[in-house]
Amino acid sequence: MSAASAFQGQDVPASLFSDFAPPEAYRPHLLGGTLWVVDVAGRPCAFLAALAHDERLHIDELDVLREHQGHGIGRRLLAHAIDHARARGFARLSLTTFRAIPWNAPFYASLGFIEWDPNDAPDSIRKALAKEAAFGLKDRCAMRLEL
Ligand SMILES: CC(C)(COP(=O)(O)OP(=O)(O)OC[C@H]1O[C@@H](n2cnc3c(N)ncnc32)[C@H](O)[C@@H]1OP(=O)(O)O)[C@@H](O)C(=O)NCCC(=O)NCCS
Repeated sequence: MSAASAFQGQDVPASLFSDFAPPEAYRPHLLGGTLWVVDVAGRPCAFLAALAHDERLHIDELDVLREHQGHGIGRRLLAHAIDHARARGFARLSLTTFRAIPWNAPFYASLGFIEWDPNDAPDSIRKALAKEAAFGLKDRCAMRLEL
């Protein structure tokens, strides 16, 4: 909830502020060794959850508590995931995000991600975008970073 409050005032459905994945949803990420949590003074304040899809590491979630946003934690978490993917021999990273919200697609673009035309993307990416559209999210796009 805290991280999502960054979207207050944006054109997003109200459900974005109340429908959150339960902790169990991140069990596969934890078991896969691709769930990273940042704690500040012993309190978790950010996490990045990714999952391997063959030669691609897909970022399912990246959130920083509202009071800790804008201090470089998200950028460092993402850099860590990129380093991990590179070291493990993944060919690329992928994610879906809001195209025009500054701390979404433009932020990822600043790290080298480019928009991924759904027609050229794997089926799982197209399905993720379709699910998000059904959830009421507008102007979403897929992005990839070739390693
Ligand atoms: C997106 C998010 C994870 C970024 O983490 P963060 O720790 O706040 O980000 P950083 O401080 O590392 O900043 C990264 C970049 O995001 C952008 N950014 C961050 N906060 C911003 C804001 N309030 N307004 C505009 N741009 C912002 C900037 O481009 C920034 O780069 P810069 O510091 O070089 O200018 C975090 O803002 C968040 O949890 N937001 C809500 C949930 C979300 O959008 N998750 C990602 C879904 S794809």
